[in-house]
Amino acid sequence: MSADAVVSETDRSEKNRFSDERLAEIEALVKRYPSAQSALMPVLHMAQEDFGYLSMDTQQMVADVLGLRLMQVREVVTFYTMFREQPCGSYLLEVCTNAGCMLNGANELVAHMCKTLQINIGETTPDGMFTVTEVECAGACGGAPVVQVNNVYHEKATPESMDALIAECRAAGGQ
Ligand code: FES
Repeated sequence: MSADAVVSETDRSEKNRFSDERLAEIEALVKRYPSAQSALMPVLHMAQEDFGYLSMDTQQMVADVLGLRLMQVREVVTFYTMFREQPCGSYLLEVCTNAGCMLNGANELVAHMCKTLQINIGETTPDGMFTVTEVECAGACGGAPVVQVNNVYHEKATPESMDALIAECRAAGGQ
């Protein structure tokens, strides 16, 4: 992290700015790597946790903080499906539709979930509670089909188990 980068971060509006505590955490993290660029993935996770998703402003902020070009940040954000560029619902339902899960009913499962929630893939319910997306292999092929709900894995998911989970989430309300 260069001195110039820190100045640029200080000038940002409060709305889209890492807290001082977070900046200290990032500074400590960067020291563990040979270059600031190596800390990009964990810093993007922090930004997504703090701001909900990675808007272009947030990506620029991350670039400034680490002294990188915006394009270097965009290359990572657009490659990995765990990084979101749009706001999503309180419950993000990520259905793996890669080969292993597809062969075990993932396509039918995601269609069922969309029908239940009355949205299309990639959309959020009007009440802001649920977003359904498709993702590449979640790395848990033995439990196919796999649905991640806010990063918690649900393996061997079925239309019935997803209906029950959606009902549970609705009963719990937003987080
Ligand atoms: S194919 Fe779905 S977890 Fe690997």
